[in-house]
Amino acid sequence: MNQPSKIAVLTSGGDAPGMNAALRAAVRTISWHKKLAYGVYRGYDGLISNDIKYLDARSVNHILGRGGTMLKSARSEGFRTKEGRQTAFDNLNAQGIDSLIVIGGDGSLTGAHLMHEEHGIPTIGIPATIDNDLMGTDESIGFDTALNTAVEAVDKIRDTAASHNRLFLVEVMGRNSGEIALATGIATGALAVMTPEEDLSVDDLIQILERGRRNKKTSNIVIVAEGYGKNGAEDLGRVIQKRTDLYETKVTVLGHIQRGGQPSVRDRLLASELGHAAVEALMNGKKDIMVGLKQSNIEHIPILEAVQSKKYLNPNYLQLVKELSI
Ligand code: F6P
Repeated sequence: MNQPSKIAVLTSGGDAPGMNAALRAAVRTISWHKKLAYGVYRGYDGLISNDIKYLDARSVNHILGRGGTMLKSARSEGFRTKEGRQTAFDNLNAQGIDSLIVIGGDGSLTGAHLMHEEHGIPTIGIPATIDNDLMGTDESIGFDTALNTAVEAVDKIRDTAASHNRLFLVEVMGRNSGEIALATGIATGALAVMTPEEDLSVDDLIQILERGRRNKKTSNIVIVAEGYGKNGAEDLGRVIQKRTDLYETKVTVLGHIQRGGQPSVRDRLLASELGHAAVEALMNGKKDIMVGLKQSNIEHIPILEAVQSKKYLNPNYLQLVKELSI
């Protein structure tokens, strides 16, 4: 087995707190093995435009606790084409780079799979997305930090909601996923959680609100995933306000604040473990897999399985929201 000698690392798609920590761990582990690390800037766009620089162990000083990504990120249109991926491969080849580590979410990891499928280059994916929608890992990097941000914001909204007896619909991120919404809902004692997966109807929500009124609830927080219905919380707010005057309704969209900030301790630990595990996997001849952490064990899962399998919301969590919000 030929061990890799020059390994490129890139961050791609929506940034997630902890990407820097994963990059640092990967670069340091590559240096530990006395191999050469390269950083690709601006995700797959940088692979196509050949924005690739050598990184030594010192290049990743002081990034462990920083949000965002030192390498910058992009959602690359060019890489969606076969020609784009050919150029990307040619650029890696020209520098003698023989392996690629991709830190990102489902679209980014699919790109890593395609690079392996079309050009035979060993690729490893590291799950990093606040959406936490990948299979093969209990959590993806960034999820915990985003949750902490969302919970802190909702706690503040709760204060003002209670002071005015208002209903607040708080929209959290998750274009196709209710993971952030569900966990935030439990951690903030929300009345209900509206997710793309479960698709609770407006009628269901109104019934829950009526029950709350009967049970003398004075404030109500509903967490709405961005991907709920056609247009998340804004649409839902308009419909609710038309259908019932039980509560004055306000809508708050948390937005990109959830993607920023210093990674939590949990994300730093996860990112350090997965960054290290990705390099170890390459050293052991693995390719086209994602590294994940399940019940404290490092797991390898084929990238396609990680991105294509449907992830269901935890049914126990869904039940918790129902029972604890009476
Ligand atoms: O990172 C994932 C995600 O946060 C989704 O939940 C959200 O829909 C999307 O990114 C927004 O990304 P952009 O920065 O491209 O608007």
